[in-house]
Amino acid sequence: MDPTTEDPIALFGTWMSEATASEPNDPNAMCLATSTATGAPSARMVLLKDVDARGFVFYTNLESRKGGELAANPQAALCFHWKTLARSVRVEGQVEAVTAAEADAYYASRARGSRIGAWASRQSRPLESRFALEKRVAEITMTYPIGEIPRPDFWSGFRVVPSRIEFWRDMPFRLHERRVFHRASEGWSIEALYP
Ligand SMILES: Cc1cc2nc3c(=O)[nH]c(=O)nc-3n(C[C@H](O)[C@H](O)[C@H](O)COP(=O)(O)O)c2cc1C
Repeated sequence: MDPTTEDPIALFGTWMSEATASEPNDPNAMCLATSTATGAPSARMVLLKDVDARGFVFYTNLESRKGGELAANPQAALCFHWKTLARSVRVEGQVEAVTAAEADAYYASRARGSRIGAWASRQSRPLESRFALEKRVAEITMTYPIGEIPRPDFWSGFRVVPSRIEFWRDMPFRLHERRVFHRASEGWSIEALYP
């Protein structure tokens, strides 16, 4: 870890590049933790689709369990773990919606089957049978046989605006290196933690 690095987003970019070169698949996979208004947590994997100084973006069904929890309590935590590098990054912060233009642009970039799948999946709700899902896919495919497919209004993205970013690196004898960036009034403050 470069001890002079003071921009956690730049450092994250470096680690993500290294993970992209070494991970067999989905280096952008991250565990997303949300919680209910009363503080009961839940966690699942999602894919990081954008990151810059504003935060970490993922896309999902707004009517899913996570979507409901984020509507009730717009705070989240993310955890990346790259086994090939023996490194992890943790992110915590408030969550905001991406703009409609951002969501439209990302949705338009997805494979046609994935755009149809976004319409077909009533994510997180009970599924009576696999056939019911396939029937919905067939119906959406007939609705949009060719040309543009509009983005469903229940499908969009969230940005986790980081207030804390931790970089963890494996070291011998479990004396791991932990470097934490806290959002300060200007820029970031940095501290090391015992492993
Ligand atoms: C590697 C991986 C990546 C995933 N990426 C996404 C994603 O980007 N968006 C999403 O909605 N679900 C994604 N999923 C599925 C979620 O883990 C989860 O099953 C789904 O979003 C429903 O979660 P919920 O019921 O807590 O809302 C991914 C699963 C895995 C294993």
